[in-house]
Amino acid sequence: MDRSGVEAVKARINISDIVRRYVDLKPVSGRWMGACPFHQETKPSMSVNDEEGFFYCFGCQASGDVIDFYGRINGLEFRESLEQLAAEAGIELSNVPRDPHAAERKARKQKLIDMHLESSDWFQRNLRMAAGNHAMKYLTNRGMTQEMIEKFGLGYSPDDWHGLDHFLKTKGRTSEEGVEAGLLSKNDKGNIYDRFRGRLIFPIQNLSGRVIAFGGRIITDGEPKYLNSSDTPIYKKGDHLYGLSLARSTMTRSKRAILTEGYMDVISLHQFGYTDSCGVLGTALTPDQVKRLTGFCSRVDLVFDGDGAGRKAALKSSRMILLQGVACKVVLMPDGEDVDSLLQAKGAEGFEACMSAAPDGLDFCMTTLRDKFAPREIIAWAKSFLSDLSDASLKAYYLPRLAGGLGLSEADFRRDAGAMSPSRNTQQQPQRRQPVKQRQQAGIAVGKDDTDDRYFLRFPIQYPDYVSHLAERGFDRILRTDWAKALWEKLVNTQPGHITSLLNEQEKGFYYRCREEMRSNILSGRDLLDEWNHICNKITFGQDKMNKRQLTEAIRQAQQNGDTHRAMELLALKESRRRDDEQH
Ligand code: CTP
Ligand code: MN
Repeated sequence: MDRSGVEAVKARINISDIVRRYVDLKPVSGRWMGACPFHQETKPSMSVNDEEGFFYCFGCQASGDVIDFYGRINGLEFRESLEQLAAEAGIELSNVPRDPHAAERKARKQKLIDMHLESSDWFQRNLRMAAGNHAMKYLTNRGMTQEMIEKFGLGYSPDDWHGLDHFLKTKGRTSEEGVEAGLLSKNDKGNIYDRFRGRLIFPIQNLSGRVIAFGGRIITDGEPKYLNSSDTPIYKKGDHLYGLSLARSTMTRSKRAILTEGYMDVISLHQFGYTDSCGVLGTALTPDQVKRLTGFCSRVDLVFDGDGAGRKAALKSSRMILLQGVACKVVLMPDGEDVDSLLQAKGAEGFEACMSAAPDGLDFCMTTLRDKFAPREIIAWAKSFLSDLSDASLKAYYLPRLAGGLGLSEADFRRDAGAMSPSRNTQQQPQRRQPVKQRQQAGIAVGKDDTDDRYFLRFPIQYPDYVSHLAERGFDRILRTDWAKALWEKLVNTQPGHITSLLNEQEKGFYYRCREEMRSNILSGRDLLDEWNHICNKITFGQDKMNKRQLTEAIRQAQQNGDTHRAMELLALKESRRRDDEQH
């Protein structure tokens, strides 16, 4: 990470100036408050702190610095948001490129994007020519309007082995470059030919609206029905959502996303006025995609086929969405229909009827579990769901609902769920390509240890002046969870003003929450002293777990190290135990 760049951006840009572009901010006792754009909210639940440069939402706990905010609301990666904000603020990001090949790679990607634009234009032109007549007819027969054909940039690839290959040559591209772009294929003999032949072409765009891949549907009979671009440096299956760049502005307004399965489904939804729709495209929904969506909205309505496979996919997808604390609804299509055929046959009214009958995501999960799963599986599902929740308040929200809906005793369930070992749930839910997340999940302890650690850490975060004193007294001894120990390490080893750039997402969320809570409850005088004493006591009594022999050993060590203060504390503890023993 470009630390100095990050610090420079944060120093130069007022976070409230950026937030204000998306949210109305009102001054409230020395800070800014506004409606959080990351969850369904009209009340001002989000606090923006210019002094310390962070935002924090009391409703959904979204939090971060200006780069996080900008990235999240625009669906950008960290590096992208940093670059854009740096450009705005006129900051040169570190002169030494992070990666000596970065410039080269960027140029290569740009070439791929240019080639996609050229190809997309060519496909679109073909649809309007004689060769594309039957493709155009096919679309109109299916009820698609010219407006949608334009909006989604649909095209046609002629039934020709070298149409695109030849066209790209006129643009100065070699066949090899076409292969690298995933537009042309190469067989074992080394012959190069058009990948898409005789197909209706659906361009796939990234968030900035650039074409980065294509899907092609066969019009006559043949296999496969859909052919998609292979992965390239600019496109990875499962990272993108079809139509998102066209839907994002409606999504930020409606705070909702409609998520469906196919190309035609997305286009029909837009045609019938649901311009907050996008599609997953033939793969299972991925956590990355959900994250991308939740940058724009706080509710995701899943539209799936009503058959067995559709329900199964809906169960998995709604679980993933609920885990992120985002609301969802599951809209199942009547037998034999998909949303495209439904809209074309019955119009928006027909779709509205399905929507209004659609259960909320959690209810859908519970009904499906009760109907289709054995008791053992139901309980396993519920436990793993709870243990995968990274947020304690979300857990508190879901637990009674799940227990109630699944007919489990809340107390038993709470105990069982609390006993789940966090390391086990990481194994159950392997999340490739997300090492940070994985570490977070592994670090998230469930239950009392976690709550205690949060309580203890709050103090040094809110009163950084005390960090070194606490460290001397052995604060690390009272922390039980790995994540808390790691965060404490960082607190000890960093200057207060510089810590946030070292924190991972989970740590940041917690850190900002503590800082924000402090604003409404600054301890002073007697209270601060009480709190300090309380924590010091805890450090001492943290040794409560030691047995007699360990205690004696600890006293001996403290004396040996010349730590008289500590030795006295431990002696007092030993003494109080002895008295307790005598009384019993
Ligand atoms: N899909 C794919 N590759 C296939 C089949 C399907 O990538 N061989 C993806 C496409 O994105 C497709 C979606 O899965 O849109 C759903 O497939 P399906 O229901 O079979 O097609 P429809 O979208 O209903 O297409 P159409 O209405 O044109 O038949
Ligand atoms: Mn269909």
